[in-house]
This record gives sequence, structure tokens and C-alpha cells, in this order.
Amino acid sequence: MDRRFTMYTETILKAAGIVSLASFVLTILYGFWYRFRAGRCNSEASMKGKVVLITGASSGIGKETARDLLRRGARVIMACRNLSKAARVAEELRKNTGRQLIEMLHLDTSSMVSVRNFAKNFVEKEKRLDVLILNAGIGGPDDMIYTDENLEITMATNYFGHFLLTNLLLGLLKESTPSRIVVVSSVLHHQSPQTFNPLNLNFQWSKYNSLHAHGQSKLCCILFTRQLAEYLEGTGVTVNTLCPGFTYTHLFSRSGGFFMGGVYRFLATFIAKSATSGAQTPIYLSVSERVAKKSGRYFEDCAVSKTSPLGADYGLAKKVWEASEALVKLMPEERHV
Ligand SMILES: *[C@@H]1O[C@H](CO)[C@@H](O)[C@H](O)[C@H]1NC(C)=O
Repeated sequence: MDRRFTMYTETILKAAGIVSLASFVLTILYGFWYRFRAGRCNSEASMKGKVVLITGASSGIGKETARDLLRRGARVIMACRNLSKAARVAEELRKNTGRQLIEMLHLDTSSMVSVRNFAKNFVEKEKRLDVLILNAGIGGPDDMIYTDENLEITMATNYFGHFLLTNLLLGLLKESTPSRIVVVSSVLHHQSPQTFNPLNLNFQWSKYNSLHAHGQSKLCCILFTRQLAEYLEGTGVTVNTLCPGFTYTHLFSRSGGFFMGGVYRFLATFIAKSATSGAQTPIYLSVSERVAKKSGRYFEDCAVSKTSPLGADYGLAKKVWEASEALVKLMPEERHV
């Protein structure tokens, strides 16, 4: 009995060892393949004379997008929460590209007061806006946090702030046609139709968890893109959204939770793309002639891709838009669609 038990245990341990080793090797091989087939933006388009605004441009994908557009001759405005960090990055990008046209302005997308102040100053000072890139984002904190304005912080940072900012800048974008809006979403936008509820965007009626909050904010970014594209049809302003792919950035290093903080970071070490590679689709959507007329679409690896069924539900998009207007308290004079 005892011997048989030991034999079983040994066999099980051996099998477990082989399985873990095999999964580890497969993960590494998958990582090579994933990085190898990642899409590249091959456009040589110049961005001379164009004004580009990027939220969250001081690290990760935002920073690499800023670097590329600066190199192409655009005037790049980084909208960032931490100006001293942004100043350092701007200096690095100036040295690296040999181009001087990069500036930074303070913006905290989690605060609607900050978004309104930012937009007011921007519209007063700037004569045009050719590309608006909505990139700022957080992974979602471990425990639910409401901002002073009573908005859940992940939704506020990743989505509500961008929803409001876009509405406030639409006038300027329409005066600068052809102009583009690029919304950074994620493949993590998949949500269960049973739990996603446009009347519960702010977690009024259900329990919070960081993965759910992050995914929901990214689904809202996609639905916002679909609805805005309908509103903007024929205006010369396009709006598209994207998943940058599995990219290692600081986004998740500051996030809590078992999935966001732990598993994601561990996997990222082996298979994630670099930030430069992750920036290829936002760059493509900002510059390429091939997407000049495309609007309301979702892209991955510089190609049109499919979202979850919820992400393509136009009825839902309308409901989310209306709920968002109410949550950010959009005033009639702030509406430009
Ligand atoms: C802003 O960035 C600087 C430089 O990276 C850092 O030392 C500082 O702690 C940051 N401030 C805040 C409030 O995060």
C-alpha cells in the first residue's frame, strides 16, 4: 500500500514536471512567434505642419507614438498628469529625434474638472488639431476608488475623461479636417453580456474588481468609437480604435489584483511586445493614407479586426453614449455632435 502510494506520487510529480517544462518552452516559443508576426506601420507619410495631441504620452505606447510622430515632423503636445516626468521625456525625445516641436500640458483624465480646464485653454490657444490620440490608461486598482466627482477611477481615467475631452475638442477637430481620433482600447474588452450594463458604468449596482473595471473601460472606448463614427459621418473627422497587442508597459506594474498585478506581469516577461512594437497600430491609424477614409473600426496589428459581439452592438453604443453624457454632466454647450 505504502509503496504503491509512493510510486503513484512519483509518477504524478514526474508528469507535473514534464507538463510545466513543456508549457514553459511553449510559452517562450509562442513569445518569439507573437513578436515576429506583430504588425508594423510601413507608411512613410510626413506629418509636417500637423498638430497631434496625445494623452498619457510620457511612458509606454504613448511615448513611442510621440517619438515616431515627432520624427515625422508633427508638432506633438503631450497631455500628462506628471509634468516633471513629461518634461524629462520631452527632452529625451528632442535629443533622440533632433526635432524641437514637442510640448507638454497638464491633464489628469480621471478628473472632469482637469479635462474641462485643459480643453478650455487648448481651444483658446490652438488654431488646429489634426490628430487626437486617447491613450492614457491605468490597469485598475485592487480596491474600488471613487474620485471627488464620484466616478470610479479606472472608468474615469481610461474612458470618461476621454469621452469628455473628445466632445470638448470636436469643434476644433472639425475645423481642421481631414482630422483623426485614435482610441487605444484592448483585447481585454471582452465582457459578459450578462454583467455589462450601460446603467451600471460607474459600478453603482455591482461588485467591483480591477480586471472587470479595466475590461469595461476598454469596451466603452470601442462603443464610444462606433457611436462617434456615426455622428461624424461626412464631417471629415474619422475615429478608429485599436488593441496594441500584449505589450509590456508600466500600466500593470502599478496595478493591483491577482490578475492585473501578478499573472499579467509574469507572462509579460516572456511573451510581450516592446512598447515600440505596441505603438505601431496607433502610429498607423494616425498617419497612414490607407486608413484616411476608414472610421468606426477596430484594428489589431495594423489591420481591421473583430471585437467581441458587445463591441459591435450599435444599440448598446447609443445607450453607453447617453449614460456617459449623464455621468460626466455634459452641458448643452459642450455638445458638438
Ligand atoms: C513625477 O515624476 C517624477 C519623475 O519621474 C517622479 O520622481 C515623481 O515622483 C512623480 N510625481 C508623482 C506625483 O507621481
